[in-house]
Amino acid sequence: MSIAEAPKQTAPEIKQTQCFIGGEWVDAASGETFETMNPATEEIIANVAAGDAEDIDRAAKAARKAFDSGPWSKMDARDRGRLMYKLADLFEDNFDELAALETLDNGKPISDSRNADLPLVIDCLRYYAGWADKIEGKTIPIRGNYMCYTRSEPVGVAGQIIPWNFPMLMAAWKWGPALAAGCTIVMKPAEQTPLTCLRMADLAQEAGFPDGVINIVPGYGPTAGAAVVDNPLIDKVAFTGSTEVGKMIMKNAAQSLKRVTLELGGKSPNLIFADADLEQAAQGAFIGLYLNQGQCCVACSRIFVEDDIHDQMVDKLVGMSKERKVGDPFDPSTEQGPQIDKTQFDKILGYIESGKSEGATCLTGGGRQGDRGYYIQPTVFTDVKDDMKIAREEIFGPVMQIMKFSDIDEVVKRGNTTEYGLAASVFTRDVAKAHKAAATLKAGTVWVNCYDVFDAAAPFGGFKQSGLGRELGEAALSNYIESKTVTMSLD
Ligand code: NAI
Ligand code: MG
Repeated sequence: MSIAEAPKQTAPEIKQTQCFIGGEWVDAASGETFETMNPATEEIIANVAAGDAEDIDRAAKAARKAFDSGPWSKMDARDRGRLMYKLADLFEDNFDELAALETLDNGKPISDSRNADLPLVIDCLRYYAGWADKIEGKTIPIRGNYMCYTRSEPVGVAGQIIPWNFPMLMAAWKWGPALAAGCTIVMKPAEQTPLTCLRMADLAQEAGFPDGVINIVPGYGPTAGAAVVDNPLIDKVAFTGSTEVGKMIMKNAAQSLKRVTLELGGKSPNLIFADADLEQAAQGAFIGLYLNQGQCCVACSRIFVEDDIHDQMVDKLVGMSKERKVGDPFDPSTEQGPQIDKTQFDKILGYIESGKSEGATCLTGGGRQGDRGYYIQPTVFTDVKDDMKIAREEIFGPVMQIMKFSDIDEVVKRGNTTEYGLAASVFTRDVAKAHKAAATLKAGTVWVNCYDVFDAAAPFGGFKQSGLGRELGEAALSNYIESKTVTMSLD
């Protein structure tokens, strides 16, 4: 559906605010709740159960039971897949409500929720539903009179901790491969955006997932999140969020040697060569940076432009930034909503100040928009030097850094000078240049003449401090599988 056709939507009814444990909706054991807010208005939307270690433990016990002895462990793989297809259908049946709920809790434009997030969620579940009965082992010709084969077994109970920038999509990326592999789940959504995840669990119950297969415990990171990592009944932790917390999780998971996969931050370079299709390159850089209010782990927050076209590209990007429609996320024509919360808002404004004080030139934006809601103006910095804070640290906001370069070897080297390695992009019409850059950029994803092209079938993840392991595609299944070797004497 095009943006123009999308109906004007308003806030939906809030159906679930409790923990979902063992197929039941329950308050947190402590009785505590926390507030989730609408970042467009700064108004409280709902009070949500604030789970902590005790609730995580109840959820882990329910997940353990469903895995070890419940119907999930006995279900045919193909029937697991059928449940996943059914759930995807239910997401489609409740499309308007889910999209509106995401926009309400997160602040992202309704056109994004409808045209990007939710279609990708549905696609992801269907993609992995198809995998459920295609996870195979091997027979291996070992020496001697033996039969040797491997079994691909589910790793067990998967603890999954997700962030607030793409709440439904991050849940789908984690549920898909875990359920296909036959794992059960204890998920902790982000405290900023718990509502869609809870509603997704509600729909999973309606689809017929057995009790305990999917458990959701909303709550804070240092309490509920940390308890996922510490709980002995959980076999594996999958985390998406900040590099700082990712490191802590890996360290704590070492206590029990839980399997760990991490999808962390980025400072992705975008290389625009003078021979690029300039319109395509400007569009790519624009979307690559501003999508989701700049709250993307892959945001191209370092844009290197070849000197011959630098001024022209800056003019284009500044012009487009001035035109970007910032406002009410429920207005179907809105392109940019508010940042997620006051913490992020203040952090981003701090980066803008640091850019100004370190001597970068702010050509447009540079401050708050309006006086209600966490809106920040689309902001463009030029004259950015590689050692400035805004060129080194993840800003996670609508703040664009543009730098000049003159040579491919130089720019690849500068592009790689970062502790991160999540994504990178190249805009050029020269095939050899594109391949050379794609091969030498140290990033888990390289886009050529495009940006932010995601597909459930294409693996995604980080080099260096951007993460560990891959999500999506066949690759993500291995995060949820233990390989067992069986050797049988034929004598
Ligand atoms: P965060 O890493 O603190 O939060 C992500 C998730 O981890 C949330 O569910 C949170 O409750 C949980 N968490 C926090 N502390 C934890 C702990 N000690 N143990 C277990 N779980 C814990 O990220 P935050 O504070 O929301 O954002 C900070 C920065 O992180 C952002 O400015 C951005 O740079 C980056 N970020 C990156 C994301 C990505 O997609 N890679 C997503 C969100 C944030
Ligand atoms: Mg935090």
